[in-house]
Amino acid sequence: MSGERAVDEAALHESVSRRSAAARELLRAIAADFSPAVFASSLGAEDMVLTDLIVREGLPIAIFSLDTGRLPVETHELMATIRRHYGLTLRLYYPRHDLLEAWTNEHGINAFYESVELRKGCCQVRKVEPLQRALAGQRSWITGMRAQQASTRDGLPLRSVDTANGGLEKFNPLAEWSEREVWAYIRQHGVPYNALHDRFYPSIGCAPCTRAVAAGEDVRAGRWWWENPESKECGLHLRRP
Ligand code: ADX
Ligand code: SF4
Repeated sequence: MSGERAVDEAALHESVSRRSAAARELLRAIAADFSPAVFASSLGAEDMVLTDLIVREGLPIAIFSLDTGRLPVETHELMATIRRHYGLTLRLYYPRHDLLEAWTNEHGINAFYESVELRKGCCQVRKVEPLQRALAGQRSWITGMRAQQASTRDGLPLRSVDTANGGLEKFNPLAEWSEREVWAYIRQHGVPYNALHDRFYPSIGCAPCTRAVAAGEDVRAGRWWWENPESKECGLHLRRP
């Protein structure tokens, strides 16, 4: 390793240690002061960092995932790996079959490609309604979002009141992390991750709405790639003034 590279790696190690300590402290405070607290995991790289932090600390924070019914097989494989690696079974929420049947029978199975409105309708049935059930009765929830992920996430706070979800406290412990820091944590701690990340999928959602990105493209360029960047939120993370 060249001298310059060694200095760079040491600085990265140092910043990941600092950020991990801060995230751990925040997670402990959430468990102590904002319980019942839940963590929403899409099993993306950021979510795996938070899973590792929560499990290592033994915090009483339940971890759930919204299984939309359209997830890539690699995401389901990671759920099985998490079970083996951490002895952890994620709590899964599924779309309501009556709503899903009505929606797909009316609009078609892949209607999300036709308009932003139909795409948001599909996300509503497959993600947002199940999220509302997952958050019912909770005092706070945690996400793996980072400010640098998208223009829609600029200025993302560590903590906010989620008015779109009944006034719950919402925490984003990795809000200030860089992508490089996320991957450094994963490497340092041997955290399992989605096999699609190694195939140029930095951000992973439902299979038909996610593709690989080209070199130099934005990390969320592969999500709903046919839409404008400003419309690329699915309704899980609405920000009202
Ligand atoms: S999103 O547009 O799909 O919401 P992204 O994939 O960047 O964006 O996810 C951001 C955060 O939303 C994740 O870190 C996680 O906390 C939550 N999230 C997204 N999808 C799911 C899911 N299927 N199940 C649980 N949480 C999710
Ligand atoms: Fe439907 Fe695509 Fe949204 Fe998944 S990401 S819920 S398939 S529109």
